[in-house]
Amino acid sequence: MRTITHQKLPTNWGQREKLRDRGQFWTPDWVADAMVAYVARGADVVFDPCVGKGAFYTALKKVAPKKKFFGTDVDPEIIAEARQEGIFGNDAELEIRDFILNPPKKFFKAIVANPPYIRHHRLSSELKSCFRKMSLLNLGDTLDGRAGLHIYFLLQALSLLDKGGRLAFIMPADTCEGVFSKKLWNWVSKKFRIEGVVTFEHKATPFPGVDTNAIIFLISNEKPQEKLKWVKCLVPQSKSLFEFLKNNLSGKSCKGLDIYERDLIEASSTGFSRMPRAGHDFEYTLADFARVMRGIATGANDFFFLTREKAKEIGIPDIFLLPAVGRTRDVEGASLTRETLIKLEAKGRPTLLFSPNGSRWEDMPEPVKNYINEGEKLGLSKRALISTRQPWYKMEVREVPIFLFAYLGRRNARFIKNEAGIIPLTGFLCIYPRSNDGEYVEKLWKILQHPDTISNLHLVGKSYGSGAIKVEPRSLERLPIPTELVKKFNLSKKRESALSLFT
Ligand SMILES: C[S@@+](CC[C@H](N)C(=O)[O-])C[C@H]1O[C@@H](n2cnc3c(N)ncnc32)[C@H](O)[C@@H]1O
Repeated sequence: MRTITHQKLPTNWGQREKLRDRGQFWTPDWVADAMVAYVARGADVVFDPCVGKGAFYTALKKVAPKKKFFGTDVDPEIIAEARQEGIFGNDAELEIRDFILNPPKKFFKAIVANPPYIRHHRLSSELKSCFRKMSLLNLGDTLDGRAGLHIYFLLQALSLLDKGGRLAFIMPADTCEGVFSKKLWNWVSKKFRIEGVVTFEHKATPFPGVDTNAIIFLISNEKPQEKLKWVKCLVPQSKSLFEFLKNNLSGKSCKGLDIYERDLIEASSTGFSRMPRAGHDFEYTLADFARVMRGIATGANDFFFLTREKAKEIGIPDIFLLPAVGRTRDVEGASLTRETLIKLEAKGRPTLLFSPNGSRWEDMPEPVKNYINEGEKLGLSKRALISTRQPWYKMEVREVPIFLFAYLGRRNARFIKNEAGIIPLTGFLCIYPRSNDGEYVEKLWKILQHPDTISNLHLVGKSYGSGAIKVEPRSLERLPIPTELVKKFNLSKKRESALSLFT
């Protein structure tokens, strides 16, 4: 029998894109075995709605060989390939079907899956309209459009889970960090029993080389309970994970696993992907001291975001240009200065935002008019974001922010002091202190750089496999600012009431 270990990712970009379109990332055996051991208990048949190359079938043959296996997948080629490779025995019942559009019409006592992780913009309108119906039917409400296919796999699977049945799904962290997650988990936790959640230390990730933070949800169709087991798996190939899941999540300590008993309300409001917290009413959040906005979305960086050389070549005068920075990696360290801009210019990086706002067409110099006409000919005025502007070449407006936040970096997410007076594009967030008083700004700067503040980013951001964190503007405003630091620097709150972390 073949066991599936780490999937080698294709180096060829086309092949990798194909994998992404179908969400074909295989579960490694040490994780598949543990998940199957949890669901197979008390079931005659184990069902995998997106069987792929049979990681869970292979696991079942090892863990409980007498039990039956039923698998479906939308992709006949992948099943044929797995058959050819001798992965599936004659006892595997397999069907080619789309689990969302055409699910099996029966209930299951055991469902296990690594659902396809395909982001919403790659999905067909037929699927999206089916999503709407499914969520209305189950949740009585729709979910935000950013919820991907994997979320609806979970909904569909839960709706097919028999009374007393068990489900184990391995999902990306956005399942409990996305904008839709509050509605989703409110519903799940009222209807089902969330028995356990397994998270992984970066070095123990089940999918090395894939930028997702994976989480296993262990759910049964039983009356909800107030407590759940929350596990952090510290080492790859962990045998303890298998033992713990096989033994019905019992036991308090296992080598290589950190196990916590958590309160369901605390876990779902903190986020299942995050460490438990004793209290989650923070006295201060960033919104008490600053406002946050995203950087400028030009709608066409090639056209609006220029190198100094290009601007000169076109003949655009300085009053139509604003100093700007686009990529987070264009700024190293904690401050952005005139020298940073000079270095970027020398490297041929764009540093100027074309902003013809405030000037009437008839007053514009010929080179500017010609450049705008060129953009018109390229069809830029018809692009989704740009077409909402009047006239189309009008640029979004931002005051120069005092601080920036580089919000998705492979290296640490960080705050940056904007000493060069630039306007950032969407790779950054703009932070405006609630007072421009020099002393106030300096105190806030010290607090923002403090490791205790930085470590709170995990509480409000979305996590990725590489350890990167992405934080949206509203979430950054909810960043807890440690009370000790506020006291130490004697920073006064400039807003009436603090926002709760979870509003
Ligand atoms: C992440 S892979 C997991 C495969 C396997 N269960 C494993 O864990 O290694 C997801 C699988 O979902 C399949 N898939 C994608 N969309 C589907 C759909 N709408 N219905 C059923 N399967 C689908 C893909 O072909 C792929 O094989």
